[in-house]
Amino acid sequence: MSREQFRLGTTFVGARNVSEYRATIPVWVSADDVVLEIGCEWGTTTALIAPHCRLVIGTDVSAQVIERARRQHPELRFEVLDGFDVRAAQALGEDFTKVYIDMSGLSGYRSLLDVIALLQMYATVLRPQAIVVKSGALKHFAAHCIPWPGK
Ligand SMILES: C[S@@+](CC[C@H](N)C(=O)[O-])C[C@H]1O[C@@H](n2cnc3c(N)ncnc32)[C@H](O)[C@@H]1O
Repeated sequence: MSREQFRLGTTFVGARNVSEYRATIPVWVSADDVVLEIGCEWGTTTALIAPHCRLVIGTDVSAQVIERARRQHPELRFEVLDGFDVRAAQALGEDFTKVYIDMSGLSGYRSLLDVIALLQMYATVLRPQAIVVKSGALKHFAAHCIPWPGK
């Protein structure tokens, strides 16, 4: 395997809870960004992201929550999407520069490998500059990692 295969341009940001997840917005989202939120539920965070960027699309696997998000925020774009289906995310046709992920089921420590697999998949396919994920497990794990300085 070549070293190129490991060279990702995406930064991963782990937030422990929804307050931390939302607190990242002014730091990580800027005016030129095109943002994808996966697991948007009723669009509360999507609406907080919107004033900071060029475009945000809120997505969720549940058609019911997307219907409610559209009713509550008619000015924003929401789509039904299974976050594990990265090809469907790609088919939204936007060049996403930031991705926000808050999917229920990914918060526990046991789901750490699923979180890492999902991040790797989005980083490889969509190549955003950063992915912010609500995952206490990832934050805890990352806090205990040190890259060994070397070539
Ligand atoms: C905690 S809620 C999201 C809250 C929202 N991000 C906010 O800040 O208000 C988690 C959401 O993940 C969604 N979800 C669960 N599995 C999913 C999947 N495979 N793809 C997309 N969304 C998923 C659920 O339907 C639920 O609406």
